[in-house]
Amino acid sequence: MIKKRIFFDPEIKKEGLSKIKKAFERMQYERESGLAGYYDLPVNQSETISAIEDFISTNEYLSHNLIKDLVVIGIGGSSLGTRAIDTLLMFSHNRNIVNIHFLENLDPLYLINSIKKIDLSKAFIVVISKSGTTIETISITKYIFSLLQDPIKGLDLKNKIAVITDRDSPLDRLSKERDWKVFYIPTNVGGRFSVLSPVGLLPLAILGYDIKALLNGAAAMREEFMQNGVELLLFKKAYYYYKHRKKINMNILFSYSSMFEAFNKWYIQLWGESLGKKRKENERVGLTPVGLIGSVDQHSFLQLIVEGPKDKSVTFLKLKNFELPITVPHLSLPYLETTDFVNGRRFQTIINSQCDSTMEAVIEAGVPVDLIEINELNEESAGYLIYYFELLTSAVGAMLQINTYDQPGVEKGKILLKNRLSK
Ligand code: PA5
Repeated sequence: MIKKRIFFDPEIKKEGLSKIKKAFERMQYERESGLAGYYDLPVNQSETISAIEDFISTNEYLSHNLIKDLVVIGIGGSSLGTRAIDTLLMFSHNRNIVNIHFLENLDPLYLINSIKKIDLSKAFIVVISKSGTTIETISITKYIFSLLQDPIKGLDLKNKIAVITDRDSPLDRLSKERDWKVFYIPTNVGGRFSVLSPVGLLPLAILGYDIKALLNGAAAMREEFMQNGVELLLFKKAYYYYKHRKKINMNILFSYSSMFEAFNKWYIQLWGESLGKKRKENERVGLTPVGLIGSVDQHSFLQLIVEGPKDKSVTFLKLKNFELPITVPHLSLPYLETTDFVNGRRFQTIINSQCDSTMEAVIEAGVPVDLIEINELNEESAGYLIYYFELLTSAVGAMLQINTYDQPGVEKGKILLKNRLSK
């Protein structure tokens, strides 16, 4: 169960209603025309699920639990979503004991020390790249291959590698030549919207998660979108962000659980890369995404929200049930009696009250606030949340009339890198 509330007046008059209607229509068009394939991922992947289940149950290493380490090589949209969901659910009973390693950055210090923790003889490798040419992903893959290369037998990875990429990408061609297992990303599903495709589903299934339940959770949010249309609270929020974009140009996701660290990062990428664009007449738009963790960041960024410039909106993400009954002991320590008011209280009650109290203070400071309250962390709620934020991103993009799904701004640097290192 996920409840959503807003604590500000979205000021929707006639013009606002028509803007919301147009955004909804544009999203419907994006879905129906196949322009953005992510919309239907929750409901069109029974074949993918069967293929993944079949692969895991027939692979000699995965089916016999001979794998100790799962190595995911990919960057940006090819790894952040999987990391987000795994971090949210890592303590759930479904998670098997396989260690997961995300290799994404070319920082040699991080890379070497991450690889030191992997037992390469018992590792299963998943290389994920939609384009199949991303320099970080391919360079790390080459490096791992060099470590696995046997001086006599050469590189024999059969059954110990799977590749997830676009059909006919350079990586796909290599994989076919080497007879590696390949799963395809639908062509119309962009990297940062791809976690509910094989990009996330395969590694998450290897880790033991219930990927059908993940998709069911996303499908529940999709159903709300299809049924309620313009009545959806999400559109009121999106309209407010659109209307006030010149003044309120920062969106803060304040998540009250450490399990949301990676989810916040996923949201930052989704929001930043999708909505930071040049609009018509060269207006530069973008609502800078910020991810905070409660209560930790109450001791840091909160001051800026409450007393700093009024250029922020805040979404509080609250987990109602942590399912752990630990309490602060009834221990009164000399000189520390002022802290005794929490003695005997559950940690869960305290962190949730911190969320409520901070939210109250932020609302009082005149900052636009909304709340997403999750009953418990499981595959369903994770899928629901992922899809909710994807829809919200599309809704804001539709209102801004930008291309939510491209990223022309990151191409220039790639060309310059090539020129620099090709000399
Ligand atoms: O969202 C995006 O499109 C990007 O962040 C990509 O996911 C990222 O650049 C990695 O690209 P690729 O999957 O082609 O290796």
